Amino acid sequence: EIYLNGMTGAVPRLPTDLTRLEELAELRLAPGPVGYVAGSAGDGSTARANRAALARHRIVPRMLRDVGERDLSTEVLGRSLPAPLALAPVGVLQIMHPDAERAAARAAAAQGVPYILSSASSTPMEQVAEAMGDAERWFQLYWGKDREVTRSFLGRAKAAGFSVLVVTLDTQLLAWRPRDLDQAYLPFVHGVGTANYFTDPAFRAGLARPVEEDPNAAVLHFLGLFGDPGKSWPDLAFLREHWDGPIVLKGVLHPDDARLAADAGMDGVVVSNHGGRQVAGSVAAADALPRVAAAVGDRLTVLFDSGVRTGDDVFKALALGARAVLLGRPYVYGLGLDGQAGVEHVIRCLLAEFDLTLALSGHTRPGSVSATALAPDPTD
Ligand code: FNR
Repeated sequence: EIYLNGMTGAVPRLPTDLTRLEELAELRLAPGPVGYVAGSAGDGSTARANRAALARHRIVPRMLRDVGERDLSTEVLGRSLPAPLALAPVGVLQIMHPDAERAAARAAAAQGVPYILSSASSTPMEQVAEAMGDAERWFQLYWGKDREVTRSFLGRAKAAGFSVLVVTLDTQLLAWRPRDLDQAYLPFVHGVGTANYFTDPAFRAGLARPVEEDPNAAVLHFLGLFGDPGKSWPDLAFLREHWDGPIVLKGVLHPDDARLAADAGMDGVVVSNHGGRQVAGSVAAADALPRVAAAVGDRLTVLFDSGVRTGDDVFKALALGARAVLLGRPYVYGLGLDGQAGVEHVIRCLLAEFDLTLALSGHTRPGSVSATALAPDPTD
Protein backbone atom coordinates (compact mmCIF):
# COMPACT_ATOMS: atom_id res chain seq x y z
CA GLU A 1 0.00 0.00 0.00
CA ILE A 2 2.80 2.42 0.91
CA TYR A 3 4.70 1.58 -2.32
CA LEU A 4 1.54 2.02 -4.40
CA ASN A 5 0.80 5.36 -2.74
CA GLY A 6 4.36 6.31 -3.63
CA MET A 7 3.39 6.10 -7.34
CA THR A 8 1.27 9.20 -6.76
CA GLY A 9 4.03 10.92 -4.83
CA ALA A 10 2.44 10.31 -1.39
CA VAL A 11 5.00 9.40 1.22
CA PRO A 12 4.13 8.34 4.80
CA ARG A 13 3.84 11.14 7.39
CA LEU A 14 5.96 9.22 9.88
CA PRO A 15 8.98 6.96 9.33
CA THR A 16 8.33 3.28 8.56
CA ASP A 17 11.45 2.35 10.54
CA LEU A 18 9.87 2.58 13.99
CA THR A 19 13.27 2.83 15.71
CA ARG A 20 13.47 6.38 14.28
CA LEU A 21 10.34 7.62 16.08
CA GLU A 22 12.24 8.31 19.28
CA GLU A 23 14.74 10.70 17.65
CA LEU A 24 11.85 12.46 15.88
CA ALA A 25 9.96 12.77 19.17
CA GLU A 26 13.07 14.20 20.85
CA LEU A 27 13.22 16.86 18.13
CA ARG A 28 9.55 17.78 17.98
CA LEU A 29 8.05 17.29 21.46
CA ALA A 30 8.57 19.19 24.72
CA PRO A 31 11.59 18.07 26.79
CA GLY A 32 9.67 17.21 29.99
CA PRO A 33 7.16 14.83 28.39
CA VAL A 34 9.58 13.26 25.91
CA GLY A 35 12.15 12.80 28.69
CA TYR A 36 9.52 11.03 30.79
CA VAL A 37 8.65 8.64 27.94
CA ALA A 38 12.14 8.00 26.56
CA GLY A 39 13.84 7.93 29.96
CA SER A 40 14.86 4.77 31.77
CA ALA A 41 16.23 3.74 35.13
CA GLY A 42 19.79 4.61 36.10
CA ASP A 43 22.17 5.07 33.20
CA GLY A 44 19.76 3.41 30.75
CA SER A 45 21.68 0.13 30.70
CA THR A 46 18.56 -2.05 30.98
CA ALA A 47 16.80 -0.35 28.08
CA ARG A 48 19.94 -0.78 25.96
CA ALA A 49 20.26 -4.42 27.08
CA ASN A 50 16.67 -5.05 25.94
CA ARG A 51 17.53 -3.95 22.41
CA ALA A 52 20.92 -5.70 22.44
CA ALA A 53 19.42 -9.03 23.53
CA LEU A 54 16.83 -8.95 20.74
CA ALA A 55 19.52 -7.95 18.24
CA ARG A 56 21.82 -10.78 19.34
CA HIS A 57 19.29 -13.39 18.28
CA ARG A 58 19.31 -13.98 14.53
CA ILE A 59 16.64 -15.59 12.37
CA VAL A 60 17.57 -18.43 10.04
CA PRO A 61 15.13 -18.16 7.12
CA ARG A 62 13.85 -21.30 5.35
CA MET A 63 13.10 -21.35 1.61
CA LEU A 64 10.46 -22.88 -0.70
CA ARG A 65 7.90 -23.52 2.03
CA ASP A 66 4.76 -22.19 0.27
CA VAL A 67 4.09 -19.03 2.25
CA GLY A 68 1.59 -17.59 -0.24
CA GLU A 69 -1.27 -17.65 2.27
CA ARG A 70 -0.68 -16.48 5.79
CA ASP A 71 -2.79 -16.05 8.89
CA LEU A 72 -1.49 -13.88 11.75
CA SER A 73 -4.38 -14.64 14.10
CA THR A 74 -3.45 -16.00 17.51
CA GLU A 75 -5.38 -17.31 20.47
CA VAL A 76 -4.48 -15.54 23.71
CA LEU A 77 -6.24 -16.24 27.01
CA GLY A 78 -9.20 -17.76 25.18
CA ARG A 79 -9.55 -14.80 22.81
CA SER A 80 -8.87 -14.89 19.11
CA LEU A 81 -6.66 -11.90 18.26
CA PRO A 82 -5.92 -10.78 14.68
CA ALA A 83 -2.19 -10.80 15.45
CA PRO A 84 0.11 -11.62 18.39
CA LEU A 85 0.11 -7.98 19.55
CA ALA A 86 -1.47 -5.72 22.16
CA LEU A 87 -0.75 -2.12 23.15
CA ALA A 88 1.07 -2.01 26.51
CA PRO A 89 -0.42 -0.02 29.37
CA VAL A 90 1.11 3.44 29.37
CA GLY A 91 -0.22 6.05 31.77
CA VAL A 92 -0.38 9.83 31.56
CA LEU A 93 -0.83 9.97 27.76
CA GLN A 94 -2.19 13.49 28.04
CA ILE A 95 1.41 14.69 28.17
CA MET A 96 1.79 13.43 24.60
CA HIS A 97 -1.50 14.49 23.00
CA PRO A 98 -4.76 16.11 24.18
CA ASP A 99 -6.78 13.10 22.92
CA ALA A 100 -4.55 10.92 25.15
CA GLU A 101 -5.77 7.39 25.95
CA ARG A 102 -8.91 7.80 23.85
CA ALA A 103 -6.85 8.27 20.68
CA ALA A 104 -4.62 5.29 21.45
CA ALA A 105 -7.63 3.13 22.33
CA ARG A 106 -9.47 4.09 19.13
CA ALA A 107 -6.39 3.27 17.07
CA ALA A 108 -6.12 -0.13 18.73
CA ALA A 109 -9.84 -0.76 18.19
CA ALA A 110 -9.58 0.24 14.51
CA GLN A 111 -6.77 -2.29 14.01
CA GLY A 112 -8.43 -4.98 16.17
CA VAL A 113 -5.54 -5.02 18.62
CA PRO A 114 -6.33 -5.23 22.37
CA TYR A 115 -5.75 -2.00 24.26
CA ILE A 116 -4.46 -2.30 27.82
CA LEU A 117 -5.56 0.77 29.76
CA SER A 118 -3.27 1.94 32.55
CA SER A 119 -4.56 2.60 36.07
CA ALA A 120 -2.63 5.88 35.73
CA SER A 121 -4.71 6.92 32.75
CA SER A 122 -5.25 10.62 32.26
CA THR A 123 -8.80 9.75 31.11
CA PRO A 124 -11.37 8.00 33.34
CA MET A 125 -11.67 4.34 32.32
CA GLU A 126 -15.37 4.65 31.48
CA GLN A 127 -14.66 7.32 28.85
CA VAL A 128 -11.96 5.19 27.25
CA ALA A 129 -14.35 2.23 27.16
CA GLU A 130 -16.99 4.36 25.51
CA ALA A 131 -14.52 5.48 22.83
CA MET A 132 -13.78 1.82 22.04
CA GLY A 133 -17.29 0.49 21.45
CA ASP A 134 -17.16 -3.27 21.93
CA ALA A 135 -13.48 -3.64 20.97
CA GLU A 136 -11.19 -5.84 23.10
CA ARG A 137 -9.88 -4.00 26.14
CA TRP A 138 -7.86 -5.09 29.14
CA PHE A 139 -7.27 -3.20 32.39
CA GLN A 140 -3.88 -2.73 34.05
CA LEU A 141 -3.89 -2.42 37.81
CA TYR A 142 -1.42 -0.52 39.91
CA TRP A 143 -1.99 -2.55 43.04
CA GLY A 144 -1.75 0.10 45.70
CA LYS A 145 -2.17 0.42 49.44
CA ASP A 146 -5.91 1.12 49.59
CA ARG A 147 -7.99 -2.06 49.31
CA GLU A 148 -11.20 -0.11 48.78
CA VAL A 149 -9.70 1.73 45.78
CA THR A 150 -8.51 -1.60 44.34
CA ARG A 151 -11.94 -3.15 44.84
CA SER A 152 -13.58 -0.11 43.29
CA PHE A 153 -11.21 -0.13 40.25
CA LEU A 154 -11.94 -3.81 39.63
CA GLY A 155 -15.69 -3.21 39.82
CA ARG A 156 -15.53 -0.18 37.50
CA ALA A 157 -13.29 -2.02 35.01
CA LYS A 158 -15.63 -5.01 34.89
CA ALA A 159 -18.67 -2.79 34.44
CA ALA A 160 -16.91 -0.88 31.64
CA GLY A 161 -16.23 -4.08 29.68
CA PHE A 162 -12.54 -4.65 30.41
CA SER A 163 -12.06 -8.41 30.18
CA VAL A 164 -8.51 -9.25 31.25
CA LEU A 165 -6.77 -7.90 34.36
CA VAL A 166 -3.05 -7.11 34.03
CA VAL A 167 -1.44 -6.60 37.43
CA THR A 168 1.87 -4.76 37.32
CA LEU A 169 4.31 -6.02 39.96
CA ASP A 170 7.49 -4.14 39.17
CA THR A 171 6.42 -0.61 40.08
CA GLN A 172 5.60 -0.74 43.79
CA LEU A 173 8.14 2.08 44.07
CA LEU A 174 9.09 4.48 41.29
CA ALA A 175 12.68 3.90 40.22
CA TRP A 176 15.67 6.23 40.02
CA ARG A 177 15.06 7.91 36.66
CA PRO A 178 17.69 10.60 36.04
CA ARG A 179 15.95 12.32 33.12
CA ASP A 180 12.92 13.01 35.31
CA LEU A 181 15.04 13.83 38.37
CA ASP A 182 17.22 16.28 36.45
CA GLN A 183 14.22 18.13 35.04
CA ALA A 184 12.24 17.82 38.30
CA TYR A 185 9.51 16.43 36.06
CA LEU A 186 6.90 13.88 37.11
CA PRO A 187 3.52 14.10 35.34
CA PHE A 188 1.64 12.93 38.44
CA VAL A 189 2.85 15.97 40.37
CA HIS A 190 0.89 18.10 37.91
CA GLY A 191 -2.18 15.93 38.38
CA VAL A 192 -1.68 14.23 35.00
CA GLY A 193 -2.46 10.52 35.09
CA THR A 194 -4.65 10.80 38.13
CA ALA A 195 -8.07 11.07 36.46
CA ASN A 196 -8.89 7.41 37.04
CA TYR A 197 -8.24 7.94 40.71
CA PHE A 198 -9.82 11.36 41.03
CA THR A 199 -13.10 10.09 39.58
CA ASP A 200 -13.13 7.04 41.82
CA PRO A 201 -15.67 7.10 44.67
CA ALA A 202 -13.44 5.06 47.03
CA PHE A 203 -10.45 7.31 46.32
CA ARG A 204 -12.54 10.43 46.87
CA ALA A 205 -13.88 9.01 50.11
CA GLY A 206 -10.31 8.78 51.44
CA LEU A 207 -9.63 12.51 50.99
CA ALA A 208 -9.88 15.03 53.82
CA ARG A 209 -11.24 17.65 51.39
CA PRO A 210 -12.82 17.20 47.94
CA VAL A 211 -10.47 17.01 44.89
CA GLU A 212 -12.01 20.19 43.48
CA GLU A 213 -11.21 22.18 46.65
CA ASP A 214 -7.68 20.89 47.18
CA PRO A 215 -6.25 19.19 44.08
CA ASN A 216 -2.68 19.31 45.39
CA ALA A 217 -3.62 17.34 48.49
CA ALA A 218 -5.39 14.82 46.23
CA VAL A 219 -2.20 14.39 44.16
CA LEU A 220 -0.18 13.81 47.34
CA HIS A 221 -2.77 11.28 48.51
CA PHE A 222 -2.47 9.50 45.15
CA LEU A 223 1.35 9.42 45.37
CA GLY A 224 1.05 7.90 48.85
CA LEU A 225 -1.17 5.00 47.82
CA PHE A 226 -0.54 4.10 44.19
CA GLY A 227 2.25 1.58 44.97
CA ASP A 228 2.66 -0.78 47.91
CA PRO A 229 6.10 -2.31 48.51
CA GLY A 230 4.59 -4.32 51.37
CA LYS A 231 2.74 -6.73 49.07
CA SER A 232 3.70 -10.41 48.79
CA TRP A 233 2.45 -13.53 46.97
CA PRO A 234 -0.36 -14.52 49.36
CA ASP A 235 -1.99 -11.10 48.72
CA LEU A 236 -2.89 -12.27 45.20
CA ALA A 237 -5.80 -14.21 46.72
CA PHE A 238 -7.62 -10.88 47.12
CA LEU A 239 -7.40 -10.19 43.38
CA ARG A 240 -8.44 -13.72 42.43
CA GLU A 241 -11.45 -13.30 44.71
CA HIS A 242 -12.51 -9.97 43.18
CA TRP A 243 -11.83 -10.62 39.48
CA ASP A 244 -13.47 -13.54 37.72
CA GLY A 245 -11.74 -13.13 34.33
CA PRO A 246 -8.15 -13.94 33.39
CA ILE A 247 -5.39 -12.34 35.51
CA VAL A 248 -1.94 -11.73 34.06
CA LEU A 249 1.06 -10.65 36.18
CA LYS A 250 3.26 -8.09 34.45
CA GLY A 251 6.93 -7.67 35.27
CA VAL A 252 7.95 -11.31 35.86
CA LEU A 253 11.59 -12.10 34.99
CA HIS A 254 12.55 -15.06 37.21
CA PRO A 255 11.28 -18.58 36.41
CA ASP A 256 10.55 -19.18 40.10
CA ASP A 257 8.26 -16.11 40.17
CA ALA A 258 6.49 -17.49 37.11
CA ARG A 259 5.97 -20.80 38.98
CA LEU A 260 4.61 -18.88 41.99
CA ALA A 261 2.20 -17.08 39.64
CA ALA A 262 0.93 -20.42 38.33
CA ASP A 263 0.62 -21.80 41.88
CA ALA A 264 -1.41 -18.70 42.85
CA GLY A 265 -4.00 -19.48 40.17
CA MET A 266 -2.96 -16.76 37.73
CA ASP A 267 -3.59 -17.16 34.01
CA GLY A 268 -0.53 -15.56 32.51
CA VAL A 269 2.62 -13.49 32.93
CA VAL A 270 4.18 -10.67 30.97
CA VAL A 271 7.94 -11.13 30.86
CA SER A 272 8.92 -7.48 31.12
CA ASN A 273 11.34 -5.12 32.83
CA HIS A 274 9.01 -2.16 32.24
CA GLY A 275 11.01 -1.08 29.21
CA GLY A 276 14.12 -0.70 31.37
CA ARG A 277 12.44 1.92 33.53
CA GLN A 278 12.62 0.18 36.90
CA VAL A 279 15.76 -1.85 37.71
CA ALA A 280 18.95 -0.49 36.17
CA GLY A 281 21.27 -3.43 35.57
CA SER A 282 18.35 -5.85 35.24
CA VAL A 283 18.43 -8.88 32.99
CA ALA A 284 17.23 -8.05 29.47
CA ALA A 285 13.62 -9.12 29.05
CA ALA A 286 14.45 -11.22 25.96
CA ASP A 287 17.10 -13.10 27.96
CA ALA A 288 14.61 -13.86 30.74
CA LEU A 289 11.90 -14.99 28.30
CA PRO A 290 13.11 -18.50 27.31
CA ARG A 291 13.69 -19.46 30.94
CA VAL A 292 10.23 -18.31 32.01
CA ALA A 293 8.64 -20.03 29.01
CA ALA A 294 10.48 -23.27 29.81
CA ALA A 295 9.30 -23.08 33.43
CA VAL A 296 5.60 -22.35 32.91
CA GLY A 297 4.81 -22.34 29.19
CA ASP A 298 2.55 -25.37 29.67
CA ARG A 299 0.67 -23.80 32.63
CA LEU A 300 0.43 -20.09 31.81
CA THR A 301 0.07 -17.77 28.83
CA VAL A 302 3.47 -16.12 28.42
CA LEU A 303 3.45 -12.60 26.99
CA PHE A 304 6.46 -10.35 26.43
CA ASP A 305 7.42 -6.69 26.29
CA SER A 306 10.44 -4.37 26.64
CA GLY A 307 12.39 -3.39 23.57
CA VAL A 308 10.02 -4.47 20.78
CA ARG A 309 10.45 -2.04 17.87
CA THR A 310 10.31 -4.08 14.65
CA GLY A 311 8.58 -6.98 12.97
CA ASP A 312 11.61 -9.19 13.46
CA ASP A 313 11.54 -8.40 17.21
CA VAL A 314 7.99 -9.80 17.32
CA PHE A 315 9.15 -12.90 15.43
CA LYS A 316 12.09 -13.40 17.81
CA ALA A 317 9.89 -13.00 20.89
CA LEU A 318 7.60 -15.75 19.60
CA ALA A 319 10.60 -17.96 18.84
CA LEU A 320 11.86 -17.41 22.40
CA GLY A 321 8.56 -18.62 23.87
CA ALA A 322 6.07 -15.71 23.93
CA ARG A 323 2.49 -16.16 22.78
CA ALA A 324 2.17 -12.46 21.92
CA VAL A 325 3.98 -9.18 22.55
CA LEU A 326 3.00 -5.83 24.03
CA LEU A 327 4.23 -2.67 22.39
CA GLY A 328 5.21 0.33 24.55
CA ARG A 329 7.10 3.50 23.58
CA PRO A 330 6.73 3.35 19.76
CA TYR A 331 2.97 3.84 19.85
CA VAL A 332 3.36 6.60 22.44
CA TYR A 333 5.69 8.47 20.06
CA GLY A 334 3.19 7.83 17.24
CA LEU A 335 0.53 9.42 19.43
CA GLY A 336 2.69 12.42 20.28
CA LEU A 337 3.70 12.99 16.66
CA ASP A 338 0.39 12.38 14.89
CA GLY A 339 -2.44 11.51 17.32
CA GLN A 340 -4.66 8.52 16.58
CA ALA A 341 -3.33 8.34 12.99
CA GLY A 342 0.20 8.09 14.38
CA VAL A 343 -0.73 5.14 16.61
CA GLU A 344 -2.44 3.41 13.68
CA HIS A 345 0.64 4.00 11.54
CA VAL A 346 2.80 2.31 14.17
CA ILE A 347 0.52 -0.72 14.55
CA ARG A 348 0.16 -1.18 10.79
CA CYS A 349 3.88 -0.84 10.08
CA LEU A 350 4.78 -3.28 12.85
CA LEU A 351 2.26 -5.89 11.69
CA ALA A 352 3.16 -5.50 8.01
CA GLU A 353 6.82 -5.93 8.82
CA PHE A 354 6.06 -8.93 11.03
CA ASP A 355 3.98 -10.52 8.25
CA LEU A 356 6.86 -10.10 5.80
CA THR A 357 9.42 -11.44 8.29
CA LEU A 358 7.19 -14.46 8.88
CA ALA A 359 6.80 -15.16 5.15
CA LEU A 360 10.40 -14.48 4.17
CA SER A 361 11.55 -16.81 6.96
CA GLY A 362 9.34 -19.63 5.69
CA HIS A 363 6.36 -19.44 8.06
CA THR A 364 2.64 -18.91 7.52
CA ARG A 365 1.39 -18.44 11.07
CA PRO A 366 2.72 -17.26 14.44
CA GLY A 367 2.11 -20.67 16.04
CA SER A 368 4.72 -22.38 13.85
CA VAL A 369 7.56 -20.13 15.01
CA SER A 370 9.79 -21.84 17.57
CA ALA A 371 13.38 -21.74 18.82
CA THR A 372 14.46 -23.73 15.76
CA ALA A 373 13.82 -20.58 13.66
CA LEU A 374 16.77 -18.87 15.36
CA ALA A 375 20.51 -19.37 14.99
CA PRO A 376 22.17 -20.84 18.11
CA ASP A 377 22.71 -18.11 20.72
CA PRO A 378 26.45 -17.30 20.70
CA THR A 379 26.36 -16.62 24.45
CA ASP A 380 24.98 -20.07 25.32
C1 FNR B 1 5.04 2.62 30.89
N1 FNR B 1 4.74 1.34 31.35
C2 FNR B 1 3.65 1.16 32.18
N2 FNR B 1 3.32 -0.10 32.60
C3 FNR B 1 2.24 -0.30 33.36
O1 FNR B 1 1.96 -1.43 33.72
N3 FNR B 1 1.44 0.77 33.72
C4 FNR B 1 1.71 2.04 33.35
O2 FNR B 1 0.99 2.97 33.69
C5 FNR B 1 2.88 2.26 32.58
N4 FNR B 1 3.23 3.52 32.22
C6 FNR B 1 4.27 3.73 31.35
C7 FNR B 1 4.57 5.02 30.93
C8 FNR B 1 5.58 5.21 29.99
C9 FNR B 1 5.85 6.59 29.50
C10 FNR B 1 6.33 4.10 29.49
C11 FNR B 1 7.39 4.27 28.44
C12 FNR B 1 6.05 2.83 29.94
C13 FNR B 1 5.51 0.17 30.87
C14 FNR B 1 4.90 -0.41 29.59
O3 FNR B 1 3.67 -1.04 29.84
C15 FNR B 1 5.82 -1.47 28.96
O4 FNR B 1 6.16 -2.45 29.91
C16 FNR B 1 7.09 -0.88 28.37
O5 FNR B 1 6.88 0.38 27.77
C17 FNR B 1 7.64 -1.85 27.32
O6 FNR B 1 8.87 -1.44 26.85
P1 FNR B 1 9.09 -0.61 25.50
O7 FNR B 1 8.22 -1.24 24.42
O8 FNR B 1 8.71 0.80 25.81
O9 FNR B 1 10.55 -0.79 25.28
